[in-house]
Amino acid sequence: MIKREIPVYSPWISEEDVEEVRRATLSGWVSSSSPDVLSFEEEFAASIGSGRGISCSSGTAALHLSLRAAGIGPGDEVIVPDLTFIAPASMVVACGATPVFADVSDEDWNVTPESVSKCVTPRTRAVMAVHLYGNPADCEGLAEAAPGAMIIEDVAQSCGATRDDVNAGTFGSLGCFSFFGNKVITTGEGGMVLTDDPDLAARLHLLRGHAMSPDRRYFHAELGFNYRMTGMQAAMGRSQLRRMDEILSRKRKIAKLYANRLAELPELRLHPPGTASAPSIFWMYSILTPSRKVRDEMMRKLGMKGIDTRPFFFPMSSLPPFAGHPTHTPVSRELSERGLNLPSGPLLTESEIDFVTDAIREALGRSKRSKVTSITASVTARTRTLEAAATGSKRARANLPTRKGRVELPFQI
Ligand SMILES: Cc1ncc(COP(=O)(O)O)c(C=O)c1O
Repeated sequence: MIKREIPVYSPWISEEDVEEVRRATLSGWVSSSSPDVLSFEEEFAASIGSGRGISCSSGTAALHLSLRAAGIGPGDEVIVPDLTFIAPASMVVACGATPVFADVSDEDWNVTPESVSKCVTPRTRAVMAVHLYGNPADCEGLAEAAPGAMIIEDVAQSCGATRDDVNAGTFGSLGCFSFFGNKVITTGEGGMVLTDDPDLAARLHLLRGHAMSPDRRYFHAELGFNYRMTGMQAAMGRSQLRRMDEILSRKRKIAKLYANRLAELPELRLHPPGTASAPSIFWMYSILTPSRKVRDEMMRKLGMKGIDTRPFFFPMSSLPPFAGHPTHTPVSRELSERGLNLPSGPLLTESEIDFVTDAIREALGRSKRSKVTSITASVTARTRTLEAAATGSKRARANLPTRKGRVELPFQI
């Protein structure tokens, strides 16, 4: 197996995160009754600008709870982008409803009002507004395209994004977030639903905890789930949340460096930066290659150098579980074949970006641009920094490699 030296994503776990998890663990409040869970829900909802946060065990659970709380079930249709991760589509099926796949835009890779309006039928109950790869979707346009349908936002990949000063996750009736290890902030696994609607909040809360009656212990008028978050996860989430702005700022800097280094390769299309009123947060800095053949060959060549990448998602309508859903989604199919996610974690260093972009140039048959011949030093720096953070050891921190007499920080931009 090839050893990956530059992962496509590694989370930024700080010493404070580790200390908070330790505190939460030793408090004895390890499960969902922990006061950290309620505090994380309040702090996260306040930071995104929503009335209520209902934490849960994953982004997938957030989607499932949202669809169930919205009353979506057999006979209903939910419009889902054809180009997305599988969770929004599979949770529609988990509710007994039917996903209807809409094509995405060549410009920002999100579903468009035009494509959604073509999918509307009398059975349409909701639109799943997925904000893909950090790019904020046009929720207002989607709502106009499907009058009467509920907008459920999937913000798993775009936490912190805004459009016309409205935070992603607050436009729709329900906003679903993921705190998986590669997300903007992480709790290991974890998720959250945001809503301003007190009735929906009560339904989410009930369904998350086996639908057990709040007034009569062990009485269940219906069936629910155990989708609760632990106290340790919430403690980490609270600590990560305090660094969210810094993480987002690092992502912008990473995107700037990639864009700068790759600008002179006209055969590539670079991650759409969005507009002044709807900027991308560049969750995964992504590029479009000229063809699937070039993309696959580039992935292989980068992989040989220890650079981990991801292809874009398969269009949902091309996957076996959704066979038989008639769909015409040429843009999703084209993007899926040509798209590639580059390493994008917040600890990525400038020399690592040079190494990745040189490897891309070489894969396209161009000469190298920078003098970086090895990534060992920066990888070692990151590994040691993570170790220092993980152990909290002053010695480990003191052992960090130095450059010109100063401690090498994990991020050199
Ligand atoms: C768009 C989207 N929705 C939902 C999810 C599911 O989140 P989780 O992995 O926390 O279940 C993901 C995960 O990557 C995602 O990318």
